Amino acid sequence: MKNVIRKAVASAALVVVFSLSARAQSEPETIYKAKCAGCHGLDGSANTKAGKNTGAHDFRAPDTDTESDANLVQIVTKGKKKMPKFEEKLKPKEIKELVAYIRGFSRKGQ
Ligand code: HEC
Repeated sequence: MKNVIRKAVASAALVVVFSLSARAQSEPETIYKAKCAGCHGLDGSANTKAGKNTGAHDFRAPDTDTESDANLVQIVTKGKKKMPKFEEKLKPKEIKELVAYIRGFSRKGQ
């Protein structure tokens, strides 16, 4: 009987661990840090070596702020000049969440 309980507790714990890590990986912040911050910087300023080399813009500048979500989603999906495309690497939902996350940079600065 004790064994059954122990097994049940262990598998419940596993389920929790798996669902937590699955959620963490789809979080825009995690994706941003892994795939975007190298060029765009952790604060969106693009003040990084790769950002300067590729000519990435400051996300907090008004021109990014006034771009429509659809345009920004398009740029991340299909790429633009030196901005790589992510259509094969990210799901449309993840790209949408990233765009919302990027908008947060300029709101933080206000
Ligand atoms: C290799 C460097 C690099 C990486 C990695 C990169 N970007 Fe970019 N990104 C750029 C450059 C350069 C531009 C400017 C393109 C242009 O010339 O208009 C840009 C432009 C953008 C824009 C359009 C708005 C603007 O400021 O011009 C968005 C949105 C964007 N990137 C999001 C992302 C996201 C989200 C990721 C990660 C999934 C990412 N980028 C990864 C280099 C990069």
